[in-house]
Amino acid sequence: MCGIAGYVGPRNSVEVVFDQLKRLEYRGYDSAGIAYLNGQDIKVLKRAGKLSVLGALLEEAPPESHLAIAHSRWATHGPPTDINAHPHFDQFEQISIIHNGIIENYLDLKEELVRDGHVFHSETDTEVAAHVIGQEYARGVPLEEAVRVGVKRLRGAYALVVISKNEREKIVATRNASPLVIGLGEAENYLASDIPALLPYTRQVVVLEEDLIAVLTQDGIRIFDGQGNDQSIEPIHIEWDIAAAQKGGYEHFMLKEIHEQPEVIAQCLAGRIDEKQRIRFEQIFSEHVWHEVDRVNIIACGTAYHAGLMGKYLFEKLLRLPTDVFHSSEFRYGDPVLSPKSLAIFISQSGETADSLAALRVCKERRIRTLGIVNVIGSSIARECDRTIFTQAGPEISVASTKAYVAQVLVLTMLALSVAQVKEMPGVRVTECVHALRSLRERAQEALTLEPQVIELAKQFFDAPLFFFLGRGVDAHVALEAALKMKEIAYIPTQESPAGEMKHGPLALVEPGVVAVFGAAEASVREKLVSNIREVQARGGTVLAVTTRDDAIVPQATDACLAVPGTGFEVLDALLTVIPLQLLAYHVARLKGCDIDMPRNLAKSVTVE
Ligand code: M6R
Repeated sequence: MCGIAGYVGPRNSVEVVFDQLKRLEYRGYDSAGIAYLNGQDIKVLKRAGKLSVLGALLEEAPPESHLAIAHSRWATHGPPTDINAHPHFDQFEQISIIHNGIIENYLDLKEELVRDGHVFHSETDTEVAAHVIGQEYARGVPLEEAVRVGVKRLRGAYALVVISKNEREKIVATRNASPLVIGLGEAENYLASDIPALLPYTRQVVVLEEDLIAVLTQDGIRIFDGQGNDQSIEPIHIEWDIAAAQKGGYEHFMLKEIHEQPEVIAQCLAGRIDEKQRIRFEQIFSEHVWHEVDRVNIIACGTAYHAGLMGKYLFEKLLRLPTDVFHSSEFRYGDPVLSPKSLAIFISQSGETADSLAALRVCKERRIRTLGIVNVIGSSIARECDRTIFTQAGPEISVASTKAYVAQVLVLTMLALSVAQVKEMPGVRVTECVHALRSLRERAQEALTLEPQVIELAKQFFDAPLFFFLGRGVDAHVALEAALKMKEIAYIPTQESPAGEMKHGPLALVEPGVVAVFGAAEASVREKLVSNIREVQARGGTVLAVTTRDDAIVPQATDACLAVPGTGFEVLDALLTVIPLQLLAYHVARLKGCDIDMPRNLAKSVTVE
């Protein structure tokens, strides 16, 4: 996601933090800024675009200062503009703030502050956080006290770094569900969102724990908790080289991104469920539109198309709304029949996929309503759709999409639930599903603990000549995504289909050595699935099932089983089963020595036809 840097000490702090930002460039960003102490004031320089744009500004008049903070922003609230870039000031321009994460209750806080006469310049949640802390600071307390009290009013995920023009020796930082690390030097100290930004300067690092507050000065650091109790400081020595550090210590970006998924779930839900359990999207059609829409067409490519199939399942099952899913490349030349009251949904991680963009333009020409579900703010699809919901998954670097898929399915789930709320659909257990969504992050964390089992299975299966991925209902959709991962990064041929289709042809491919992976989240068809499992086993195939822990049927019939925690909702259960399947593809590919993050013949963003 966004990058954070900070420095206090004898060097030119502006040069140091700018260099730190450069070391975080690999994470992706769309604007950047620096705040430093200048005379009696805080000077802020910030620009949309690449770091070179900010760098040119610094070259014009090279600033010098002993204390600076810097930020590279990956837009979530408001487009990437100079004004929305961080740092932001409080109402009284006493303090300056940078922030990673999302403040969920920023709209409520903003309304309250506007009523009190506060004026905002940007569309960001960060500026609201600055004003909240600034309000406390205006009571005349030390900066760290203002932060300690102020953050109690913020809800969401954040790493916040604050400086004041009145307390010129300190940087104050705190975090909740968004990382921050402190680098210890000799008569100087550093701060960053990620270890790679610290490594050229120091290998002595303190990982700031959740909800603690740190005060950095040239001479040392102090860390205390929300009640003001001092905490012990336990530095660790980092041995990683820079490349390993960029991957957070993981061997590949793909593995890092798989492990980020609990966090991505939290980010994707952040700010979108209110106290009354209602789903709220910032940029969405007004309620009457949902009463008017008579058909949904979901249009996407690859993994995003697979997420679209989950959308169809949801819209038809929960809303009884007829839904079709198209490959963008087929849609654009297919002369589709489109009802004027239909809604076209475009799903894309990059927002730049050429076929999806062309299909979107077909819909625009035909005056069909369009909605984007996109990860990259400011991308072409996000800009050209009538409305766009952002998946908030953070930059995805590995070519194989993992966390973006999970976020796309989550957005589709929330969208279906919000329409069910608007249309007051009888029989839809919206509140229970919202509760399940709220606990999904923990469930995903539990699903990741299957990794040691997955590694053992990968050792058994990595030289299989063919993998089948099968399932019924929602599992058939997950099977497509799991198969794509296996062929994309492990280069193993796969056959994926609804399990009931096996006997109509694909079964002919089963022979000893072939592995068949069955998804069994769809509880109502487990007995049918067992018949399909028997069909494979009778021909010498090995069967692995991925199901929920409460499944007493399927595990009895299989050679191996991976069980994820259940949520009570099949779509969410199926979404959790994708996690061990991503891990399986990853570990098979690793054992085969494949170039996992950059698989042969593929690119991250497919901007050509
Ligand atoms: O950026 P998009 O979501 O539009 O990309 C669509 C596909 O190219 C993408 O999902 C691709 O299939 C992934 N490499 C799959 O892992």
